[in-house]
Amino acid sequence: MKKQLVLFIAAIFTFTMVSSAYAAKKPECPQPRKTKSAPASIAKKDNTAKANKANGKKIFHKTAKPMACKMCHGDKGEGNGKLGAAFKSPKAPRNFTCASTMKKVSPGQMYWIIKNGSKGTGMAKMKLKDKEIWDVIKYIREDLM
Ligand code: HEC
Repeated sequence: MKKQLVLFIAAIFTFTMVSSAYAAKKPECPQPRKTKSAPASIAKKDNTAKANKANGKKIFHKTAKPMACKMCHGDKGEGNGKLGAAFKSPKAPRNFTCASTMKKVSPGQMYWIIKNGSKGTGMAKMKLKDKEIWDVIKYIREDLM
């Protein structure tokens, strides 16, 4: 009888811990954003028309250097990847699924930040070729946003 009670309490405890961990990772939207703006000439660039979305998907989930984008931006682009929790709002990884925040972020703006990083935040400069940057932007904009 006693053993059952201990097991029962342990189960409740585990359930509470797991559910609070999930609650903490709930994506924030609208998401506060203080990111620097790209120069106007770059902000209006858009080379996604000829980009390769399948390659972009691979970059996002696997091959990006120094790290796959999903580690911070999350599997679905909600800004809640494994490492993302280390960065706090307003410097949290962008939640690409948040339309009200993303409507201010043009393809050219994304290009500029991916290429140069966002100083003072976890968003490091990515070691990607220009073509690869447009591939990943196409994937984010068409499949995650
Ligand atoms: C180590 C964590 C981390 C990784 C890995 C990472 N990001 Fe980010 N990313 C961030 C953070 C933090 C921000 C928010 C920066 C800010 O607030 O200025 C961000 C912001 C962005 C933005 C939004 C820029 C804007 O103007 O709002 C884009 C686009 C982006 N990341 C793309 C990517 C792509 C593509 C990859 C993979 C090639 C990637 N990130 C990998 C942490 C990361």
